[in-house]
Amino acid sequence: MDKFLVPAVPKPLDGEVEIAGAKNAVLAIMPAALLADGISEISNVPHLKDMKTMSDVLRIIGCRIDGENHKLRIDTRGANHLEAPYELVKTMRASFYVLGPLVARFGRCRVSLPGGCAWGPRPIDLHLKGLEALGAKINITHGYVEATCEGRLKGGTFHFPISSVGATVNLLLAATLAEGESILQNAAIEPEIDNLVDYLISMGAKIQGRGTRTLIIQGVESLTPGKGETIADRIEAGTFLCGAVITRGRVKVTHMVPEHIMSVLNVFKEIGCDVTIGDSWVEVDARNKSLKPISVTTLPYPGFPTDLQAPLMATLASIEGNSLIQDTIYHDRFTHIAELKRLGADIQLNGNTATIIGGKSLEGADVMASDLRASAALVLSGLIAEGETTISRIYHLDRGYEDFEAKMAKLGATVSRIRPELA
Ligand code: EPU
Repeated sequence: MDKFLVPAVPKPLDGEVEIAGAKNAVLAIMPAALLADGISEISNVPHLKDMKTMSDVLRIIGCRIDGENHKLRIDTRGANHLEAPYELVKTMRASFYVLGPLVARFGRCRVSLPGGCAWGPRPIDLHLKGLEALGAKINITHGYVEATCEGRLKGGTFHFPISSVGATVNLLLAATLAEGESILQNAAIEPEIDNLVDYLISMGAKIQGRGTRTLIIQGVESLTPGKGETIADRIEAGTFLCGAVITRGRVKVTHMVPEHIMSVLNVFKEIGCDVTIGDSWVEVDARNKSLKPISVTTLPYPGFPTDLQAPLMATLASIEGNSLIQDTIYHDRFTHIAELKRLGADIQLNGNTATIIGGKSLEGADVMASDLRASAALVLSGLIAEGETTISRIYHLDRGYEDFEAKMAKLGATVSRIRPELA
């Protein structure tokens, strides 16, 4: 397994990076192709492990997938094996997104339950209850969800008791082909959902309420293959901007949508950084600033994203004084704390709230990444730790950050990948 070797940066990060397409948007859009017979196209697709995993899921179903230059073509004409196996779903929960489109188009499918993840159980009850509200019969047997319906799914109303990105994706995909009108109340409004709505509309879906918590879908009998572009990855952008703050440097992220990270930019401003916003770029300047500790709570969009909780925690550990982070989305998403502590950070966890006693000097050590965003947090801390930090299990990071080492190099940091045979 590859590792990262991170020496402390001799100087603060300084430079510009281009942000890739959003992993979590592509993961929702790729299964949308299953709703139509033919070749769908998606552009601005990042080269990431998760895209390969979703391609493998679609291939097992019978799709042909090819791509180049950040474009993907998904040919669904051979889709006839209506199953997503445990071997793939367990490695990437978003594989579960094929459930909605498969039952909607083919009237039956069998998809493995995803199981737990590094920071807790992560239930899928809302996906299933929502599909039942659209007339699907759900049967769980031998670790698999079997979904069936007689004829087409039937339009229905589903109220999400809590905001869920994944369940909104699954239901939206399913409702496009249901008979009659479906209403999704308290739906997620993350930018990735809007991206999916736009893509589905390109396929002929009838959806009203884009960007609001009530989505109204008039089901159609059939859809045509889609074509559309993925939005920029707001979490990747936020991670590199955290890099500016933790090293007291200056980073400009380009080819992105500033509006998608307003809550994050407000945090950087509150800390005491200069934030400059352009039409498709943002620059955060933390040079020669006296930075302050803060309190942050993760919330559904447009609140501060849970996916930046770990990178922000690493960042706040560099700022003198006590900061607080409460994660209200995933109460147990704190496996990075033990590893940050190995580098010398002082962090106490009480329930879902971490107190970060910032300003302690860090020392390089061997640490282990427990998930995608935790990996990014460890790299950021490694940049300011004295000596070398080695981060193992970076296959987690490879799931969500394209060309990470090259982008870090553009900012002046040396993050080296050590392959096992060279280690
Ligand atoms: N939840 C339920 N029941 C469900 C579904 C969700 O109780 O059926 C709960 C979850 O346990 C959680 C909350 O609802 O407490 C929100 O979870 P959500 O469904 O929104 O998360 P998700 O769809 O599984 C996506 C992203 C995650 C991101 C979360 C929150 C994708 C592929 N994944 O997950 O991204 O953390 O939304 O924004 O879009 C990442 O990129 O590192 C990542 C983990």
